[in-house]
Amino acid sequence: MDIVTIDGPAGAGKSTISRMVAQRLGYDRLDTGAMYRAVAWLLDRHNIDPSDSEAVADICKKCDIHFEGEKIFINGEDVTGLIRTPKMDMLASQVSAIPAVRERLSELQQKIGSRGRCVAEGRDMGTVVFPDADYKFFLDASPEERARRRKKQLESAGEIVQYEIILKQIIERDRADISRAICPLKPAEDAAIVDSTSLSPAQVVDFILSEINKKREKS
Ligand code: DC
Repeated sequence: MDIVTIDGPAGAGKSTISRMVAQRLGYDRLDTGAMYRAVAWLLDRHNIDPSDSEAVADICKKCDIHFEGEKIFINGEDVTGLIRTPKMDMLASQVSAIPAVRERLSELQQKIGSRGRCVAEGRDMGTVVFPDADYKFFLDASPEERARRRKKQLESAGEIVQYEIILKQIIERDRADISRAICPLKPAEDAAIVDSTSLSPAQVVDFILSEINKKREKS
C-alpha cells in the first residue's frame, strides 16, 4: 500500500516533517490529529460533555470531515484556525479515548487514504488504520524539546504560554495517549524509529526519504 505513516507523541515534529515528506514525494498529507481536534471543537460547540458517550457517538456517526489542501472542514465549516489552542489540545486528547470517535475517524481516514500516495500522520496510522502501509515511521523527541517547539509554535500563532505549563501538559497528554485502553500510542513493529531531539527537520526528512528509497530499491 503506497502510504507513508508517521506516528509519534505530541510535538515530535510530525506536522512539519509530514508536510515536507509529502511535498518531496508529491503525495497528499493526511493530518489525523486535526480530525480529532475538529471533533473536539464540534463537541465543545454543541456543549456535549465528552463523558456522555451516547451523545458523542450520535454526533460522531453523523459528522463529516473533509480537507481542502491544508484546510479542514467539519460538517461544512472551516475550523482550521480554531482547533490549535491549549483548550482543544486537552479536549482532543479526551475525545481520542472514546471508541465511537476512533471508529468513525478511522473509517474516514481509510477512505481518504484508499487512493494511496499519501503521508498519514497521527498516533495509530501504522498500527491500526493503515497496517499494510509500505513505509512506517515513529517520530520521537524528548518532552523538553517538544515543549520548546510547541511554545514557539503557539507564540507564532500569537499565544503566550509558560514553558512549564506546556511541558506539564505534554507529559500529561503522553501519559493519556500511551495508557489509554484503545489504540494506545506505540510504534508499529515494522516502523523505523526516529529520535528528532537533536536533528533538524531537513535531517529527519532526508533520513525518511533515504529509508523509503532503500525499501523501494529492494522491492
Ligand atoms: O497530533 P495532534 O496533537 O494534533 O493530535 C491531537 C490529539 O488527537 C492527541 O491528543 C492525540 C489524538 N490523536 C489520536 O489519538 N490518534 C491519531 N491518529 C491522531 C491524533
